[in-house]
Amino acid sequence: MHKEKLIIFDTTLRDGEQSPGASMTQEEKIRVARQLEKMRVDVIEAGFAAASPGDFEAIRAIAGTVKESTICSLARASESDIAQAGEAIRSAARKRIHTFIATSPIHMEKKLSMTPDAVVERAVDAIGWARRHADDIEFSAEDAGRSDLDFLCRVFEAVIKAGATTINVPDTVGYNLPDQFAETIRQLLSRIPNADRAIWSVHCHNDLGLAVANSLAAVLAGARQVECTVNGLGERAGNAALEEIVMAVRTRADVFPVETVIDTAQIVPASKLVSQITGYPVQPNKAIVGANAFAHEAGIHQDGVLKHRETYEIMRAEDVGWTKNKLVLGKHSGRTAFKSRLAGLGIELPSEEALNAAFARFKDLADKKHEIFDEDLHALVSDETVTPAREHFKLNYARVTSETGETPLARVTLAVGGQERQAEASGSGPVDAVFGAVERIAQSNAELLLYSVNAITTGTDAQGEVTVRLAKAGRIVNGQGADTDIVIASAKAYLNALNKLYSSQGRVNPQGDI
Ligand code: KIV
Ligand code: ZN
Repeated sequence: MHKEKLIIFDTTLRDGEQSPGASMTQEEKIRVARQLEKMRVDVIEAGFAAASPGDFEAIRAIAGTVKESTICSLARASESDIAQAGEAIRSAARKRIHTFIATSPIHMEKKLSMTPDAVVERAVDAIGWARRHADDIEFSAEDAGRSDLDFLCRVFEAVIKAGATTINVPDTVGYNLPDQFAETIRQLLSRIPNADRAIWSVHCHNDLGLAVANSLAAVLAGARQVECTVNGLGERAGNAALEEIVMAVRTRADVFPVETVIDTAQIVPASKLVSQITGYPVQPNKAIVGANAFAHEAGIHQDGVLKHRETYEIMRAEDVGWTKNKLVLGKHSGRTAFKSRLAGLGIELPSEEALNAAFARFKDLADKKHEIFDEDLHALVSDETVTPAREHFKLNYARVTSETGETPLARVTLAVGGQERQAEASGSGPVDAVFGAVERIAQSNAELLLYSVNAITTGTDAQGEVTVRLAKAGRIVNGQGADTDIVIASAKAYLNALNKLYSSQGRVNPQGDI
């Protein structure tokens, strides 16, 4: 069967990052963007340039770093948003502006307070503004899934005429069903006279758990770009999961008339990286990237797999990047081996100083834990990729006592903006005590929304990776910390979250008002 190309448009760094607490620092965004490039994602939506100066700078840095993938910035249909997007992606080897406006009756009336005629006019103007900065222009009709079909035909025909090269049909609120969504795509393709002058794209949210099913149905109906995120990260129930789209198209090549150029062996590393950076864990039974996705528990299945793999497996674990936990470094590994393994993982530390600090931490870890895996290295360097300016609170010392029948007690010493401060607190457990002591110094009064611990690798000497989610004044942040001692990991995670609260600026949500 002749295969057409299915363009994979990744929006982990934009729609994914809009998930509560999933915000990433510039360094973290660059690490994710590099991994996406390594996975051979066609288009990386690097952010929404007008959200804040930090978002703008992160897109600019990604545009200057990534060479193979197209770098895209989102922009509302406003001249100033589009100018900022154009400036942020200016240095990219391949660049795209993605502009959008809502087209459903409810969004036009209640959110935009605009008439349908004014929306068409604004959409066409937006394409004109975008063409000043790029030739590759994507237009989205926000809430297309609940828009009137005749109106969608009118808007899309007008923007294609104005120069839009990709037309995206978002099911913004995850309302559609696969057959219905596929029919929408079919109707758009057959009724719009200039439909053949654009690439048709879909962007599905997962509120009914149908984001992947809807996207795949749309591909069968003629869509040739799918917008998705690693691990299905995204607002509310998330977006279509990249790994599920890519592997469905590949595994069911007998059904799909398309193929992607994704290097599927990079899927699991990308999943782990995004999960580790955002603090959003991957559920064990998640398709493709869940820890149990290829585990055969039931004896009967194991027997079948051992006799003949295909009895119960439709994909090979190694094809999506699952490897046995390999010993990568040990106690005697030197700085050069350490540096080269980091390079192999796509990790570049910001300075020699950061590399030296990470190497010292590696030596400490190797003393406590004899086998160091790639997962350990990812956790270990995450501290070093945070620039010192953002580290307002730093853990210098912690002593925690916990004994049967006694109240746990913690004493911590923090550097706060360079000044040493000490406090003690008791708690219902050692973690509660350590958080209490930190809070006595930081006085953040932030609300603790989530506390979770995961072992990074197997074994009781594994590092525990802790995620802490804090909320304050409408802002939600996730902090991570890793250590072989989970109480220390917890303290680090709490401080990491506080540092994010302390340094994060206000941001504009692209899907708010225009
Ligand atoms: O869900 C949505 O409609 C979006 C658009 C901005 C493409 O994210
Ligand atoms: Zn979206």
